Amino acid sequence: MTHRKIFVTTALPYANAPFHIGHMMEYIQADIWVRHQRMQGHEVHFVCADDAHGAPIMIAAEKAGKTPQAFVADIAAGRQQYLDGFHIGFDNWHSTDGPENHELAQDIYRALRKAGLITERSIEQFFDPVKNMFLPDRYIKGECPRCGAKDQYGDSCEVCGAVYSPTELKNPYSALTGATPVLKTSVHYFFQLSSQRCLDFLKDWTHTPGRLQPEVLNKISEWFAVDEHGHGGLADWDISRDAPYFGIRIPDTEDKYFYVWLDAPVGYLASLKNYFGKTGRDFDAFFADPAVEQIHFIGKDITYFHTLFWPAMLHFSGRKTPDHVNVHGFLQLSGEKMSKSRGTGLSPLKYLELGMNAEWLRYYLAAKLNGRVEDVDFNPEDFVARVNSDLIGKYVNIASRAAGFLNKRFEGRVLPVAELPAADAAIHDQIVAAQPALCRLFDEREYGKALRDIMALADVVNGYTDENKPWELAKKPEAAQRLHEVCSTLMRAFELLTRLLAAVLPDTAARAATFLNVRFDRSIGPSQVERIGEFKHLMQRVDTQQLDELLAPPPAPKVVPGGEDIAPEIKIDDFAKVDLRIAKIVNAEAVEGSDKLLRLTLDVGEGRTRNVFSGIKSAYKPEDLVGKLTVMVANLAPRKMKFGLSEGMVLAASHADEKAEPGIFVLEPGPGAQPGMRVR
Ligand code: 2FM
Ligand code: ZN
Repeated sequence: MTHRKIFVTTALPYANAPFHIGHMMEYIQADIWVRHQRMQGHEVHFVCADDAHGAPIMIAAEKAGKTPQAFVADIAAGRQQYLDGFHIGFDNWHSTDGPENHELAQDIYRALRKAGLITERSIEQFFDPVKNMFLPDRYIKGECPRCGAKDQYGDSCEVCGAVYSPTELKNPYSALTGATPVLKTSVHYFFQLSSQRCLDFLKDWTHTPGRLQPEVLNKISEWFAVDEHGHGGLADWDISRDAPYFGIRIPDTEDKYFYVWLDAPVGYLASLKNYFGKTGRDFDAFFADPAVEQIHFIGKDITYFHTLFWPAMLHFSGRKTPDHVNVHGFLQLSGEKMSKSRGTGLSPLKYLELGMNAEWLRYYLAAKLNGRVEDVDFNPEDFVARVNSDLIGKYVNIASRAAGFLNKRFEGRVLPVAELPAADAAIHDQIVAAQPALCRLFDEREYGKALRDIMALADVVNGYTDENKPWELAKKPEAAQRLHEVCSTLMRAFELLTRLLAAVLPDTAARAATFLNVRFDRSIGPSQVERIGEFKHLMQRVDTQQLDELLAPPPAPKVVPGGEDIAPEIKIDDFAKVDLRIAKIVNAEAVEGSDKLLRLTLDVGEGRTRNVFSGIKSAYKPEDLVGKLTVMVANLAPRKMKFGLSEGMVLAASHADEKAEPGIFVLEPGPGAQPGMRVR
């Protein structure tokens, strides 16, 4: 068998939220494949990274009062518990904001420019005059041009389904500031996907036999198609965004950044390069090696990026292109699309916190996955049935039945296959004979079929147990030799089944390896156990109650009449992090150029004063505030604003929409409070 060198990735998750169950499904699918390839003796490098850039992350960071870098780092810090919890064995986890990615993305861009595939064009776009930034479509709202529904997004109407461009909205406003956006021109950079060179290359690349799944190829043909009016076909790709933007600066510009989707897939290479850097390997040599296979696992929603833009970027910058893009469908819950906002999700963290076995989920999802682009349905009853009947009833029980007798009666010794009667040896040989076909199924990502076939083998073994009834043999002293043969056959069958399941159940396989005194580092081969050690229970049954708890909707948020929902519950420690102090307003004045802010000078009893900007101009005349006491957040990181440094925040009450009646109210302590007192 040829030795394969394989570079595997999963899609890079946006660094704006913790993982959801859909991420876990993709990682489990890829992780099983990677473990399987390693058990074939192949060299595999398996990496991922946070997709750090883009306007939504920049805006979310600002809302959270953090730099985008700090925001992304906080999300990244929460990743490992999921990966460990579900036994996802990435070799490396990096970030698209890492230095390797900046360098690689800029190199690729320069090469594309040199190849004559980058053009500049002026485009008109909505601009938020308050925020001083161009607005991505999803941050523009207004009235639907067709049905007049209010508060619709810039690209389509949720009420009547109309699709339009943001400039068609009536009474458009910025979702960030409420300001009326103005049209402004700016020069954008485009990658010429519509050029004949790109078309020729992509037609060839996408149609290389075996590269893409047939459904994916069908979709791509639709994208290539041009109708009788000349509409359709591939369009040039706008790869630039204007400052302010959290991203990678475009070389030779002052204020232009790569659109996040340009540098995101480059992050695959950056993560590998970062990993090789840590292990002292030569990334350039590896990536230039024609023998290396590059394989991406992705969801169906990002096919366009991975089968058109990405291979074209790589090819025309003189690099190797992906060998396969393996596309999977979405994960649904009892036939419905999962939605976190409606509380119908399945939280992977809650799953782990409830003490549920990660391998139940790995097995269940694997049993439902195939090599096609089909949605996968998580069904609670089905989950319980599959896990309990297959994993416990059919598989784990084989070991628990045989181990006791072997240990108690035969010092753990397992008879060699050569010493077994022909009918017993045939059970062993049947499983060994099935190995190559099962390996092919794993290689083709036909996990569901593979697991069905493995369970059919387990059925054969359980049929053998029922025929030979070791528990009855154990009662007859004269049947000791037969008991030893039967239990040896069962233990060897268990070993072989575990080896077939090892990529799906790595933790169970590792524990089984310990008690069998064998290694599961190869998929193919006869059983090897000679003597077993102490048998410890391998896996519990699923408890339906855990599943009910897992899927119970989160408690409904308490709603204050006319107001906002109460924020999610926190612990007292969370509250203690906020240092609230009584502050005396020693001065207050308007801020030139701002119709929202007042500049406050505050005394918090520190022997110096602080400068704080507060968005309360609409509600207070500066002179009415001077001399008053209020409450401020004294340990908020200082924030550089357009008008100077703000060293804290004054507390004020309002409705969610600060402009709504009756307005904004600065907090005042009861009489007698003194500057510097802590509020707790
Ligand atoms: O759709 C997403 O979640 C993207 N963050 C995927 C990026 S994949 C790759 F290109 F980085
Ligand atoms: Zn409408």
